[in-house]
Amino acid sequence: MSKEQVTALVTGGSRGIGRAIALALAEQADNMAIFFAGRQDKAEETVRELEALGLQALALQCDVADAQAVKAATDKVREAFGPIRVVVNNAGITRDTLTLRMSAEDFASVLHTNLSGAFHVIQACYRDLMRAGWGRVVNIGSVSGLMGNPGQANYSAAKAGLVGLTKTVAKELAPRGVTVNLVCPGFIETDMTGAMDAQVLARAAGAIPAGRLGRAEEVAQAVSFLCSRRADYITGAVLQVDGGLYM
Ligand code: NAI
Repeated sequence: MSKEQVTALVTGGSRGIGRAIALALAEQADNMAIFFAGRQDKAEETVRELEALGLQALALQCDVADAQAVKAATDKVREAFGPIRVVVNNAGITRDTLTLRMSAEDFASVLHTNLSGAFHVIQACYRDLMRAGWGRVVNIGSVSGLMGNPGQANYSAAKAGLVGLTKTVAKELAPRGVTVNLVCPGFIETDMTGAMDAQVLARAAGAIPAGRLGRAEEVAQAVSFLCSRRADYITGAVLQVDGGLYM
């Protein structure tokens, strides 16, 4: 990364994959902001870990589905650290059930958090990225968005939407030296998969060519690479980190 101060923002950075991403980016960033939904204790834990690695870190409770809240929170990050150069849209939720039983509210809330949330954050950081002449956006999708998954009409639709959002913003910002990519994890050991039915999870693991679930750190390494100068010429890419589940 460049010699000037680099400020990174990771949404959903309080735990799971987001926390692993924030920690993996620590070697490339000077300042790190994380947005989280509810678990203040977890967010503070991440901040302490980042500070122990020598960064200035800030955790803000911010619902990414709320455009105004995102604007206010990114303004706070800018006040504290200056322009935001690296954005990782990781915040996500699931509300799984078969399409027949899915309520319109559960369909909409997953779309709002997982897809509109990424749009809100990108829009709120857009000018910073455009002006810097160098920047990174990594969105966190899912193999569900590429292959579909029974019980996840809302989630798969939102994650598939991230493919279009990623490629469009990639085309808009490429002339400005900003890359925009999508990382699609398969099944990763986190609270999200911990909440799944054990039998369903065991069946899913059996379908993974690598023969095991992934670790949050393995997703974080891919994100870290895409955020580094080594990935200057990679934009609009969809990169699966899934042990071969989708190919
Ligand atoms: P998690 O449930 O452990 O953590 C989710 C994070 O998102 C938390 O930090 C939470 O505070 C934050 N968050 C949720 N709703 C939010 C909102 N409205 N505003 C701000 N922050 C919010 O989830 P996990 O497993 O770490 O997933 C992270 C990302 O990776 C998600 O986008 C998820 O869809 C994606 N993913 C996860 C997979 C897995 O197997 N765990 C597989 C494929 C994708």
